[in-house]
Amino acid sequence: MVHTKKISLVAAILAGALAFSMSARAQDHAHATPTPERQSWTFGGPFGGFDKGQLQRGFKVYREVCANCHSLSRIAFRTLAEEGGPGFSESQVKALAAEYKVKDGPDDKGEMFERPGRASDRFPAPFPNPEAARAALGAAPPDMSVLAKARSYSRGFPLFLVDPLIQYQEHGVDYIYALLNGYTNKSDQNWNAYFPGNKIGMAKPLSDGQVEYTDGAPATVQQYAKDVSAFLMWTAEPALEKRKKTGFRVMIFLILFAGLLYFTKKKVWAGVAH
Ligand code: HEC
Repeated sequence: MVHTKKISLVAAILAGALAFSMSARAQDHAHATPTPERQSWTFGGPFGGFDKGQLQRGFKVYREVCANCHSLSRIAFRTLAEEGGPGFSESQVKALAAEYKVKDGPDDKGEMFERPGRASDRFPAPFPNPEAARAALGAAPPDMSVLAKARSYSRGFPLFLVDPLIQYQEHGVDYIYALLNGYTNKSDQNWNAYFPGNKIGMAKPLSDGQVEYTDGAPATVQQYAKDVSAFLMWTAEPALEKRKKTGFRVMIFLILFAGLLYFTKKKVWAGVAH
């Protein structure tokens, strides 16, 4: 009897918690933005890795479009040649860096000067500071280096309990993809379905045919959004592939080690009555 009472109490508490969180979510949804849809990415899951072609296209979109407003201040040009990235060669990276003007100094006379970029330089920002960007654009565009991680969110109960188990870590990148495709009000270029409050300071940045692709990928907003989002996931975590590979090796090691320990324990205690 006592046992059944306990079970029904636990069930009642669980049901209460579920109902509460569902009503909280329903309220959220009534006047908040929808949760971005989960996309499939090559870098998802425990064995995921980046698609070099996609990163190169994403970089092109970033360079030709987003870089006019957004900085990428934590990324050095040479990172583009590192393993697990877009796979540019070192000479390509040198040539690319040299196309940029980088502020350096002071020189002998105490003055700052501009020189061509080197592979070890970071991407120069389009505006000298966020205030200048705000004055020019009306709102300050956030730095893009870790944006794909910074815009993460919880999917609410019960999914936030499930997400670590299914290794879903792409919330931020799904949000960026959804945001870039979220300009669904044709008469208002600053209305975005996925931006909190819907009024975004960034007018629709992408349109079909805007960036030329040379590898046959479709030149559409959807494809640009997908590629640049993947690129931003890479800038946020250039060592993602390495991390996943190491994680897998550690799991294998732990499983083997657990097995060894089990048999060792059996052997050590074999002669002891217990
Ligand atoms: C004309 C300038 C401009 C261009 C080009 C531009 N952005 Fe923005 N972006 C902004 C501004 C301004 C904001 C800040 C908006 C706000 O806070 O209301 C912003 C905000 C964002 C945000 C953050 C939204 C949030 O949740 O706070 C993302 C993500 C973003 N931009 C992605 C991109 C990508 C990807 C590109 C290139 C395809 C791009 N932007 C091109 C000006 C620009």
